[in-house]
Amino acid sequence: MKKIAILASGSGTNAENIARFFAEGNRIRVEVVLTNREHAGVIERMNRMNIDTEYIPNRVWDENPERIVELLEFRGIDLVVLAGFMHYVSPVILNAFPGRVINIHPSLLPAYGGKGMWGHHVHEAVVAAGETESGVTVHYVTEEFDSGEILMQTRVPLIPGDTPETLESRIHKAEYELYPRAIVAALNRLPSPPDLPSQEEIAEAPPVPVTPGPPALPKSVEEEWAETLKVKYDPSSSAVPPHIPVPGIPPAQSETVAPTVPVSGPDNREQMPPAYLLWSILVTLCCCFLPGIAAIVFSTMVSSRYHNGDIEGARRASRQAEIWIIVSFVLGVLTASLYVPLSMVG
Ligand code: GAR
Repeated sequence: MKKIAILASGSGTNAENIARFFAEGNRIRVEVVLTNREHAGVIERMNRMNIDTEYIPNRVWDENPERIVELLEFRGIDLVVLAGFMHYVSPVILNAFPGRVINIHPSLLPAYGGKGMWGHHVHEAVVAAGETESGVTVHYVTEEFDSGEILMQTRVPLIPGDTPETLESRIHKAEYELYPRAIVAALNRLPSPPDLPSQEEIAEAPPVPVTPGPPALPKSVEEEWAETLKVKYDPSSSAVPPHIPVPGIPPAQSETVAPTVPVSGPDNREQMPPAYLLWSILVTLCCCFLPGIAAIVFSTMVSSRYHNGDIEGARRASRQAEIWIIVSFVLGVLTASLYVPLSMVG
C-alpha cells in the first residue's frame, strides 16, 4: 500500500477527486491532507470522506518545515501531492522527499507559470492573451516555482467566447482525468526499497527450491487401517479415534483403533460401489444353487426309497440331502461374507 499526502489551500476539488479515485483499490491511499488555511474548503470535503486533515499555519511551513517532514515520515508517506497548495514548499521538505513531491498547474507549462501565476490568475492571462489552447501540467516540485521536470501534460483547446470561468471549469475536468494517472506514474517511478522486490520481480522470480523435510514417519495404526480398508483418513481431524472393541480389554487399553469417522457432520467414508453388492448377492445365490438342488434331489429320493421299502437307501439319501444342505449353507455364508473384501483387494 502506497500512501500519499495531499497539500491543499483551497476548495479541494482535486483532493476529493484523488481520494475518491484511489478509495476503491488497495494499492494507493490518501493518508492525510495538510492545509495552510484554517478554514479551507478541503477540510470539510475530507471530513466527509473520513480522511485525516491537519491545519499547519504558514509560520510552521516557513520556520519549522522539519516538523512537517517528521509528520510526513511518521505517516509513512511515499508521495507528496500538491493540489491547489498556495504556499512555498521549503527545500527542507523537498530534500527529505527527493523526487517525491509533485504539483498540478492549470496551464501548459512553461507557459503561464511562475510566481503569482495560480488558479484564476492563469486563466485570466490565457484568455486575455487570446490563446487558442491551454492545458494542465503535472510536474515535480523544485525550489523554483513551476519549473521542475514535467511528468504529464494534457491540452485543453479554447473555444470562441471562452471566459476565464468557462475555461477554468474545463481545465478542472482535465485535471480530474490527469492527476490520478500522474500520481500512479510518479509512484511507479519510485525505486523499491532494497528489501522489497517490485511486483515484476516477484512475478519473474524462479520458484523457491523446496527444502527437503524430515524423513517420513512410520505409518500410524489408523493410517494402515485406512489403507487396508481403502477409506479416506485425515490424521489432523482425529482427536480421539473411535475404538474397535476387543473382548476382555477395556477401551482405554485396547491398541487397535480404526480410522477416524466423524461423530457428526458430513460422512467422509468411501461408499461401497452398488455393483459390489449386486455381484455379492448373485455369487452367493449361484454358490447356494447347485448344492441346494442336490439337497432337494436327495430329499425326494428319501421318500421314494422309503415307499419302495429300501430303508437303507432312504437313510443314505437322507444323509446325502443333509450334507448338501450344509454345503449349500456354508458356501452361501462364505461367499456372502468374503466376496466383497476379496473383490476390493483385487
Ligand atoms: C487547480 O486548478 C490547480 O491546478 C491550481 O489550483 C486549483 C485548485 O483547485 N493550482 C495552481 O494554480 C498551482 N500553481 P481545487 O482546490 O478545486 O483542487
